[in-house]
Amino acid sequence: MSTALKPAPARAGRRLFIKTYGCQMNVYDSERMADILRPLGYGMAETPEDADFVVLNTCHIREKAAEKVYSELGRLKALREERLAMGHPRMTIVVAGCVAQAEGEEIMRRQPAVDIVVGPQAYHQLPELIVRQSRRTGERLSADFAPDAKFDALPSVRAVDGVAAFVTVQEGCDKFCSFCVVPYTRGAEWSRPVADIEAEVRALAGRGVREVTLLGQNVNAYNGVGHDGAPSSLARLIEGLSQIEGVARIRYTTSHPNDMSEDLIEAHGSNPVLMPYLHLPVQSGSDRVLRAMNRKHGARSYIDLIARIRRARPDIAISGDFIVGFPGETEDEFEQTLALVREVRYASAFSFIYSPRPGTPAATMGRQIEPEVARERLHRLQALLAEQQKAFNADQIGRTLPVLLEKPGRHEGQLVGRSPYLQGVVCEGDAGLIGRIVDVRIEGSSLNSLRGQRLEHGG
Ligand code: SAH
Ligand code: SF4
Ligand code: F3S
Repeated sequence: MSTALKPAPARAGRRLFIKTYGCQMNVYDSERMADILRPLGYGMAETPEDADFVVLNTCHIREKAAEKVYSELGRLKALREERLAMGHPRMTIVVAGCVAQAEGEEIMRRQPAVDIVVGPQAYHQLPELIVRQSRRTGERLSADFAPDAKFDALPSVRAVDGVAAFVTVQEGCDKFCSFCVVPYTRGAEWSRPVADIEAEVRALAGRGVREVTLLGQNVNAYNGVGHDGAPSSLARLIEGLSQIEGVARIRYTTSHPNDMSEDLIEAHGSNPVLMPYLHLPVQSGSDRVLRAMNRKHGARSYIDLIARIRRARPDIAISGDFIVGFPGETEDEFEQTLALVREVRYASAFSFIYSPRPGTPAATMGRQIEPEVARERLHRLQALLAEQQKAFNADQIGRTLPVLLEKPGRHEGQLVGRSPYLQGVVCEGDAGLIGRIVDVRIEGSSLNSLRGQRLEHGG
């Protein structure tokens, strides 16, 4: 860090740097924190060296993610001292997000250099915390779960500069999978009202956003208040959002198999704005493991559900999450996961070694799996998933796909966009085309992207 440090320049205003860990909901929260601080005169810094205010927006999902925070804090503390020695203003260090919620007190104890700890449902109070903090340091605000108060307090203007944006529509989780910290870090399920979401999406579309990804830990359990005062399903929310001028693509993530309602499946067949991509984690292919995970569904019911979704939208790309090495997982049970993967055929997936999390039921379950065994299983699973992902991408060769052009590519004259199936697509074109959806004939594929030739027509 210290190599980039220069003597303090004379400048007005304070500089903010936010480092984001974890899921897309944290990405959304980081953008909103910047929105809250902007009216107070905080501009964005490119690096922590250049920042007077550094926020670590943290993730608690696995041990490694949580531990990273403490090493980063150690570096920030040293950086603060170096900066002071060179005449910079004192850097404020903030820990936000799920680690802040789960272990706020421990953070303060382990790293006293931290000025503010603020949980995922309390960050709208940052301005007040900053004022108070100028008088005393070490404030923790995290324990209350009140997402409605947070969303009410967020500014309506968002400073997005891309053509795709995230919008959180649902927070929290009531599922209590036995391995997972999210119900403890984010609180109970809560959905934003339809009208608020529509207003946010309309404003985004007005700024040139064409693709919106609706976010929630359990987004398909969405049941926010609709225009008629009754709860609206996610399918109805999507239907309304598809009418907004400028919105060409809608996605949503993450879903639980048990909340995959009939109207949502139908929407995949009938609404062209809803993209043919579905992230539907299953975690394991073994019914015994699924029971121990408290997933409340079996392997067969998941496979049947995928078949129903594919009947509605045959080309839909399915993505998933898997955990290997769950307590007590036998070789045979792991192979049932491989068998499920072979049957479903995934377009992409995330897979993890089980990480025991303090306070969750699985952490104290019998027989934890040896790390070498878990690592070996992860390699086998990932090899199979990579093979499927490559095959899915290769299947696109020869097809013409509508691609939303998002940004310049690595080389001059190149653009990068997204296919309906969320694949990155590289093609030629000038930057004036960014934000357009163009037809691209796919000519090549790799594990992570496609490349092709842009056809002249298409809008
Ligand atoms: N709400 C989402 C998941 C959020 S966490 C859902 O239910 O799909 C994202 C993924 O992290 C999970 O799907 C799971 O695969 C993984 N995960 C969660 N807790 C974990 C743990 N303790 N160890 C390893 N992986 C975990
Ligand atoms: Fe965690 Fe399960 Fe809730 Fe997903 S559904 S956030 S895995 S408890
Ligand atoms: Fe991590 Fe919190 Fe998201 S624990 S995965 S940042 S909800």
